[in-house]
Formats: sequence, C-alpha cells, structure tokens
Amino acid sequence: MATKISYTLISSLETHAVRHAVLRAGKPISSFIFDGDDTPTTIHIGGFYKNKLIAVVSLFKQKNEAISSTNAYQLRGMAVLEKYQGQGHGRKIIAVAETILEKKNVFIVWMNARESAIPFYINSGYSKFGPIFDIPDVGLHYVMYKKLNS
Ligand SMILES: CC(C)(COP(=O)(O)OP(=O)(O)OC[C@H]1O[C@@H](n2cnc3c(N)ncnc32)[C@H](O)[C@@H]1OP(=O)(O)O)[C@@H](O)C(=O)NCCC(=O)NCCS
Repeated sequence: MATKISYTLISSLETHAVRHAVLRAGKPISSFIFDGDDTPTTIHIGGFYKNKLIAVVSLFKQKNEAISSTNAYQLRGMAVLEKYQGQGHGRKIIAVAETILEKKNVFIVWMNARESAIPFYINSGYSKFGPIFDIPDVGLHYVMYKKLNS
C-alpha cells in the first residue's frame, strides 16, 4: 500500500533537519539557511508521514534574469529523506508547490538543479536552460525551468 503523506505549509526552521540530512550532511547550520528564508513572500512546504517530516521544498520570489519573467519563483531546498526517496514523494511535493504558485499567477518556476537530480526534474516537466555550472561545495548544476499557467 502507498505511504500516505500529508502536505502543509511549514516554517523555514522546520525545513532545517531535512535540508541538513539530505542536502548539506556534515556541513554547518549556515550552509542550510538560505537568504530570503524568512521573507514574507517565501513559501516552505513539508510532507509529513505519521507526524514525521520526510520531504521539504522552499519557494522564493526571485527572477532569473536570463529566463526573464515578471512573476517568477525559484525552487530551492528540494529534499526527501533517503529512506523515502524513489516512492513518488518528490514528484508530489513539486506538484503541490506548482499548484500554490499557479494560484498566485506565477508564470515561471526555476531552480539550480543538481546534475544528479536532472532526470527527476525532467520527469516533472522541467527543461534545462543554459550551460552546466559549478556551485562551490555543492557541485555541478543546470538552471531548469517550467512555465506555469500556460
Ligand atoms: C531528487 C529528489 C528530490 C527526488 O525525490 P524522490 O521522491 O526520490 O523522487 P520521486 O520518487 O518522486 O521520482 C519521480 C520520478 O523521477 C524519477 N527520478 C527520481 N530521481 C531520479 C534520479 N536520480 N534519476 C533518474 N530518475 C529519477 C523517478 O524514477 C520517478 O519517475 P517515474 O515516476 O517515471 O518512476 C530526492 O531523491 C532527493 O531528495 N535527492 C537528494 C537531494 C537532491 O538531489 N535534491 C535536489 C537538489 S536540486
């Protein structure tokens, strides 16, 4: 039987444990606090299984000048606890995020996607934009994006 996950808005603080474990293991707290985490337009979503937070994603009102859009959000801190990966929770939390952004009339959602996560984002309808680039201490990334409300 499929694992039942409920999705809800959470605080930036609540994202920390999952961000740390999945995205910044062994790194200091400053590495998983992002600029803009507590800006009022920023949205944090959590997926809970039996009251345990197992998946997080954060959405920042942020243009990417190269893609250019008046109403754009950047998706950051996308993470599913290792034990729960590969079970559709990543796909679902992105879908929840897109529904929230569509209601806010957002036209572009974009992210700096880790090379290893590219197939996952392609699977959710995202396209690569521009060349591969390095984020120091994190690794190789592509900008990826998807048009909403089209
Ligand atoms: C990337 C991540 C968020 C994906 O979440 P997930 O719950 O594991 O992915 P899902 O189970 O929802 O996968 C959705 C689809 O993408 C595919 N997919 C997921 N990860 C993949 C990978 N690394 N390579 C190829 N396909 C992948 C799945 O096979 C599935 O396709 P299907 O429905 O056709 O079988 C999660 O694995 C994770 O937290 N990884 C480590 C952190 C990370 O890389 N975050 C992204 C930073 S940019």
